[in-house]
Amino acid sequence: MRPVGESAPRKDGPDKLCGAARYIDDHPIPGALFGVTVRSRSASGRIKGVRFDPSFPWAECVVADARDIPGKNAVHLLGDDQPLLADGVVRHAFEPVLLVGHPDRATAWRALENVTLEIEPIEPVLTMEDSVSRKRVIWGDDNVFKTITIKKGDAAAALAQAPVVVEGVYRVPHQEQAYIENQGMSAWFEEDGTLVVMGSLQCPYYVHKALQPIFALPAEKVRVIHAVTGGGFGGKEEYPNMLGGHAALLALKAKRPVKMIYDRTEDMQATTKRHPAVVRHRTGLTKDGRLLAQEIDILMDGGAYMTLSPVVLSRGILHATGPYECPNVSVLARSVATNTPPNGAFRGFGAPQTLFAAEMHWEKIASVLGKDPVDLRRRNAVKVGSVLATGQVLKESVSAGKVLETAVKRSNWTAARRAHARWNKDPGKPTWRGLGLSLVHHGAGFTGNGEVYLKSRAGLAIDRAGRVTVLAGSTEMGQGASSTLAQIAADALGVPYGSVSVERPDTARVPDSGPTVASRTTMVVGGLVRRAASDLRTALAKAAGRAPSGAPAFRRAARKLCGAASERRFLAEYERPAGLTFDDVNYVGDAYGSYGFAACAVELEVDRTTFEVRLLRVFTAQDVGKAVNPRVVEGQIAGGTVQGLGWALLEQCVYKDGALQNPRLTDYVIPTALDVPDIEVAIVEDPYSCGPFGAKGVGEMPMDPPGPAVAAAVFNATGLFLPTLPILPERIQEAADEEAARRALK
Ligand code: MOS
Repeated sequence: MRPVGESAPRKDGPDKLCGAARYIDDHPIPGALFGVTVRSRSASGRIKGVRFDPSFPWAECVVADARDIPGKNAVHLLGDDQPLLADGVVRHAFEPVLLVGHPDRATAWRALENVTLEIEPIEPVLTMEDSVSRKRVIWGDDNVFKTITIKKGDAAAALAQAPVVVEGVYRVPHQEQAYIENQGMSAWFEEDGTLVVMGSLQCPYYVHKALQPIFALPAEKVRVIHAVTGGGFGGKEEYPNMLGGHAALLALKAKRPVKMIYDRTEDMQATTKRHPAVVRHRTGLTKDGRLLAQEIDILMDGGAYMTLSPVVLSRGILHATGPYECPNVSVLARSVATNTPPNGAFRGFGAPQTLFAAEMHWEKIASVLGKDPVDLRRRNAVKVGSVLATGQVLKESVSAGKVLETAVKRSNWTAARRAHARWNKDPGKPTWRGLGLSLVHHGAGFTGNGEVYLKSRAGLAIDRAGRVTVLAGSTEMGQGASSTLAQIAADALGVPYGSVSVERPDTARVPDSGPTVASRTTMVVGGLVRRAASDLRTALAKAAGRAPSGAPAFRRAARKLCGAASERRFLAEYERPAGLTFDDVNYVGDAYGSYGFAACAVELEVDRTTFEVRLLRVFTAQDVGKAVNPRVVEGQIAGGTVQGLGWALLEQCVYKDGALQNPRLTDYVIPTALDVPDIEVAIVEDPYSCGPFGAKGVGEMPMDPPGPAVAAAVFNATGLFLPTLPILPERIQEAADEEAARRALK
């Protein structure tokens, strides 16, 4: 059996199953202090002073503030606007101001109750709308982190002449990543002055890059080691730069190792969330529902600092039209500052926000035109040869039609909708039933020229005994990356999967294969591993005189290839597939090398008394190009779907004065196995010629379609159009009451 396409057992499975896997808090770090963070309670203000309660044993503690930073007080990412520790001014609630270290964890936590920040309040800007109206400027000269526009044809002219124009406004909220393991980092300085940071993170080389200017250290004096990581979902893409910096700063001041582990409340209060967004659509159509023009306006809430907002916005705008072809498109997207904790990466990275709007807008169009929403999608969905809003021509691997038809068939679309209509007419039934469907695309890999700038490198090492090891900075965080990369290496080398191991990501030992984000690990890093494997295969054949066949011949060839060296390394560097170009100023061209496509059908019922929603069936068809490990792919699809269902139906961040009021998993409710039916998954494989074995991405796409499918199903069940997530029972009830009042007036 060839390794690629097999549901090979997970490389990380046995250790996790038997408890041998060590997460950062499980690593004994001799002599370490435990570090905690003193945070602002206020969303905006000037720091006037710090009061330390004299009854607390401060002499046993190490305290660090912004003045202890040897280099630049900035957490480097896209911009340098976010300080490592607030210096004079706070711009959001829970902004870090001081660090305290103590040998005893409980005492360190108690220190937090014995220090008071004196902050003179400045009126905060708490909403996107206030930010845009420049009620108070808190960033740059207009509060706007980034503006992007896309133009194709002449949308204004086409709208002026369109026989049908439909408008809609859609809103999506914050979302907490809710990884099982909270954020945590350890840091220490080696005797030669090397800073070592180890922790729960997605992107070792991001942390590596961010720490250098903070500590004024050259690259070779910073080392970042990945600890077993209990989930990321984007939430450990950027924040580890901050927490790694904090642990290292305390370690520098204390001259001892430091461990910092957040509890759930601190993690939820202070770290990044999904960007909330407001998306407005104005769409021109023919009477039979063909797209003539799309005018779209996107506003995203970036929070108090830039972090990744410009690139989240970029992915958002590039998915805003949905997977449809329209001759005239005009999109304006802005990401703005508010005095709230910075929002950041979360699975889907801007696309779930704009795709919710695009897909719900089809439901509205369908009701205006009196047409079947599936027929409208069929009529407008992209196919090979279609031209996207950026002018990108889709040349291959375009499966929108296929995933849509699979979902239509497997959800029994027509018959089920008819049966539900009959059920809903019967006043004796306790519920209303509905079926909704959505269709999305998701660009795999970094947006635009991102992969070209990254210049990622990954590959393999082979030793004299013929042992093969994957070398990549891409991290396993539960998603199956290590198994997938090992399968690709084994298959390309012609050796068994079990004989390939994966090096632990450590910047001292592995090349920079780019961040573990953007659904890029299988397609991009897997592609590099495959190329390196084919180079290694050629080198082995050359060393042995012919291609080695069987394990003993492979070992002999390896010994010859290594010669006197203990191992040899084969690395490949990213090269953009021929024919792709992108203008990242004007947003013209090939935004992504390829797109995955997914459709999701949700069947549910709404209780007529309590307005509670019960999911009956969730079916999803997703095209991943090639499923390197079908069980891993299915796990990604099912998990992402559940996360999308949670965003749609349950999860709500409640803010007061810019501070999260429900920072616990008891009152921020995420779905459990009891809240969802079995997720029925159909894996579609429409191979991409430049992906390894045809693979595109899978990590993020499953997050995109459940939101609009749920809202469409609630609309189908109740006749209530709810353009805002989450769809909580009280929101359905409000909408039902409003509808009843409207009817009574007539
Ligand atoms: Mo991500 S949301 O690209 O880690």
